[in-house]
Amino acid sequence: MIDDLWYKNSVFYCLSVGTFMDANGDGIGDFKGLLRRLDYLQGLGVTAIWLMPFQPSPHKDDGYDIADYYGVDPRYGSLGDFVEFTHGCRQRGMRVIIDLVVNHTSDQHPWFLDARSSPDSPYRDWYVWADKKPANAGKGMVFPGVQKSTWTRDKVAGAWFFHRFYDFQPDLNTSNPHVQAEILKIMGFWIQLGVSGFRMDAVPFVIATKGAKVGKPIEQYDMLRSFREFLQWRQGNAVILAEANVLPETDMEYFGDDGDRMHMMFNFFVNQNLFYALASADSRPLAKALQATKPRPATAQWGLFLRNHDELDLGRLTKAQRELVFEKFGPDKTMQLYDRGIRRRLAPMLGGDRRRLELAYSLMFTLPGTPVIRYGDEIAMGDNLDLPERNCARTPMQWSTEPQAGFTKSDRPCSPVIDVGPYGYEHVNVAKQRRDPNSMLNWTERVIRMRKEVPEVGWGDFKVIATRDPSVLVMRYDWRNNSVLFVHNLDEKPREVSFAVGLPGDAGKLLVNLLSEDHSRANERGKHTLVLEGYGYRWYRVGGLDYLLKRSDIDADAKGKTGHPA
Ligand code: NOJ
Ligand code: CA
Repeated sequence: MIDDLWYKNSVFYCLSVGTFMDANGDGIGDFKGLLRRLDYLQGLGVTAIWLMPFQPSPHKDDGYDIADYYGVDPRYGSLGDFVEFTHGCRQRGMRVIIDLVVNHTSDQHPWFLDARSSPDSPYRDWYVWADKKPANAGKGMVFPGVQKSTWTRDKVAGAWFFHRFYDFQPDLNTSNPHVQAEILKIMGFWIQLGVSGFRMDAVPFVIATKGAKVGKPIEQYDMLRSFREFLQWRQGNAVILAEANVLPETDMEYFGDDGDRMHMMFNFFVNQNLFYALASADSRPLAKALQATKPRPATAQWGLFLRNHDELDLGRLTKAQRELVFEKFGPDKTMQLYDRGIRRRLAPMLGGDRRRLELAYSLMFTLPGTPVIRYGDEIAMGDNLDLPERNCARTPMQWSTEPQAGFTKSDRPCSPVIDVGPYGYEHVNVAKQRRDPNSMLNWTERVIRMRKEVPEVGWGDFKVIATRDPSVLVMRYDWRNNSVLFVHNLDEKPREVSFAVGLPGDAGKLLVNLLSEDHSRANERGKHTLVLEGYGYRWYRVGGLDYLLKRSDIDADAKGKTGHPA
């Protein structure tokens, strides 16, 4: 049934258990702490939580190096605590999706320990080996500058193993049917414990051919269908959200022409063009990226995000575009990472400027897809560039002005709390912003509430509406005879913009502002003219004649404001 597609009009929030809330005072966030904060998340309007890896792990890549797929790392609690957590979410109408990291394991995983111990190990072929150093060893590193190669010699095995990521993350041989069966088993396990799906890590690498002789890896897309099919058999409304930073021409391979592969994908292409648009005040490349990523099956959905726990990857932009984003948002070398991205959090990137933060979030909430918020962004948290690589943007959640931001009672938190400068917890924290009606937190809550009331964005078709001004983006969504329209001024200067809504008859005559009393009425030629402040944005419901008749209160008010005859 179509209404079961809950992810079409949902609000995702991602967090890692370890840096969210520590209940037992050992300095590490845990499931009990997270459980205590579920009312906060529900109050914010979150409808699905995406948990980053929490399974047992040596933690050399923040848990993306898993040593046991069927457990909870004891530092976060027990499987029992996990189930209490998913139950607590269900009671509050929130769903949980978890990371599915099956491109590689930790080198401490028992499978790898066994595999390396002997060529006859039943697990030997679960990994990717070579007797000699392969010719492609110096190619395809995901973390250039930190990671030296993609093949490393293992002394115990007396052979080389393949690792797309760090050398402590040996790649699983995902072509091996036993490995594929195990991946399904992992999904089945967590589904049984109450999750609604998975954020699948590194999907293009999971499905790529791997081996010493593989020059250009080939994606085996049909593997995605078997993952989905299994999941659907076990639980009809569970989803997979794919991490796949790919070009638009392969999107449909991931979604599947018949909508039979990934339910959701992060829209990395739009993400990068969105940052370029913010940097250049030119909406055209963003509009192009939206158009390029438009084709998708009816049941599929984009995940829309601004920043995540990794660097802002700008690899899909042209060199000139990338340089401009660097210049505007990460000019210092220390802010950049892996020759392709920026490792800062959003608020410092935008100079802490509330107008620009609202603009960026307003875009994220109104571009086609399901918004994915990064924990702490709702209070405009900052980063700590003294921490290595991507850790700078993974500091503990800032709850209050209590010591350690109220995150822990320990004076030795697992990652240092930001306690200096404008983003220090004494200035930026939840408790303070709760009390301030104009805070970022309360703004975000209001905007989320409204976003849920415009399902047209998640469900409908969009159209970019032409204006003469490249710094203004106007978009209309239509769904089930309802329309909404969004206007964003990317420029710091005020703009006057004129446009026609583009619906037949009187349908586009009145635009009812969803966030303020500032409605708009078309002139006799059917055009709307708006004056937007610098970085201004508007959310409108398109009200036709029917709408006017039904909503005479709004009509009267709009007439009073604009002075135009009804
Ligand atoms: C993508 C994750 O987002 C990143 O944090 C991780 O390091 C790699 N995959 C490897 O799992
Ligand atoms: Ca703890």
